[in-house]
Amino acid sequence: MILTVTMNPSIDIAYIMDSFVPDQVNRVKEIHKTAGGKGLNVTRILKKTGNKVLATGLTGGKNGEFLKEQLDHAGVLSDFYEIKGDTRNCIAILHEGKQTEILEAGPAVSQEEYAGFIDHFQMLVQRCAAAVFSGTPPRGIEDDCYACLTEIAKKYSVPVILDCSGAPFLKALKSEYKPDAVKPNIHELQDLLNREISKDPECLKEALSEKIFDGIAWIVVSLGADGCFAKHHDTFYTVKIPKISVISPVGSGDATVAGIAAGIVKGMNDEELLKHANTLGMLNAQEKETGTVNLDHYDSLYRQIIVTKV
Ligand SMILES: Nc1ncnc2c1ncn2[C@@H]1O[C@H](COP(=O)(O)OP(=O)(O)OP(=O)(O)O)[C@@H](O)[C@H]1O
Ligand SMILES: [Mg+2]
Repeated sequence: MILTVTMNPSIDIAYIMDSFVPDQVNRVKEIHKTAGGKGLNVTRILKKTGNKVLATGLTGGKNGEFLKEQLDHAGVLSDFYEIKGDTRNCIAILHEGKQTEILEAGPAVSQEEYAGFIDHFQMLVQRCAAAVFSGTPPRGIEDDCYACLTEIAKKYSVPVILDCSGAPFLKALKSEYKPDAVKPNIHELQDLLNREISKDPECLKEALSEKIFDGIAWIVVSLGADGCFAKHHDTFYTVKIPKISVISPVGSGDATVAGIAAGIVKGMNDEELLKHANTLGMLNAQEKETGTVNLDHYDSLYRQIIVTKV
């Protein structure tokens, strides 16, 4: 079982409209509501690719209930920790080929609720083969949140895959207890190291050799249409992917994270893990809906990926 953690999930509402004009009445043509949040994208991809997965995190109010029902209907196992504040709504207005987003910040979490969640996580993680932490923690939660969760997972020798940015990412890397895998994209890597980094392998090699990454077994820098660059222990890899037609690459990083987690749990070798993770990223990019993959195209994409030691 792989445990996914979504600290600030959402009800993602897509309003499909012919047009959208501010300061005017706009009528919605079609509406879709789904359980959202990066960790839930990872969850769906893991389930679709045949992995046992359990989703946890924080939910509250009627929206929290709706989110759990949605997951139930999709056959996704979940065990969220209940908080007082309402799970947020995130609205995407799709109009004239454009996307206008209105994102709520989500509920503020109290110290008591955070402490309660930590106990809840400890109870769940000890039965799991890996833990995945995705996204920005909600208001009220300290930046060392993922560092704390990693420390707990490591107490039970459970591998941790982390995909976040900013201060929580920095804290987790600096902690004594290291995640086993991290997946920054190039922007998150630049933010972390506070300098420009090109996609050139030599430049990336230098970046991933910085002290901040000491003790992190897998660092996978995703490069969108350019595949990724990775380091596993002392070995560096470039991963070249074929050119594909893309519908929406939103959540492709989450699909890649799902692939890394499954690869670690299944004991894939480096080449297999990198090909699996990139294939899932590409498959997500070929779908309209975030966090979905059509596995009919898996083999043909997988075969076209070239992993090279550098
Ligand atoms: N335009 C694209 N064409 C082909 N493959 C893509 C494209 N975008 C993403 N991918 C695949 O998905 C992987 C992850 O994508 P990306 O680097 O965009 O992640 P990300 O920025 O973390 O995305 P998000 O945070 O929205 O999930 C890439 O390494 C690649 O394999
Ligand atoms: Mg990402």
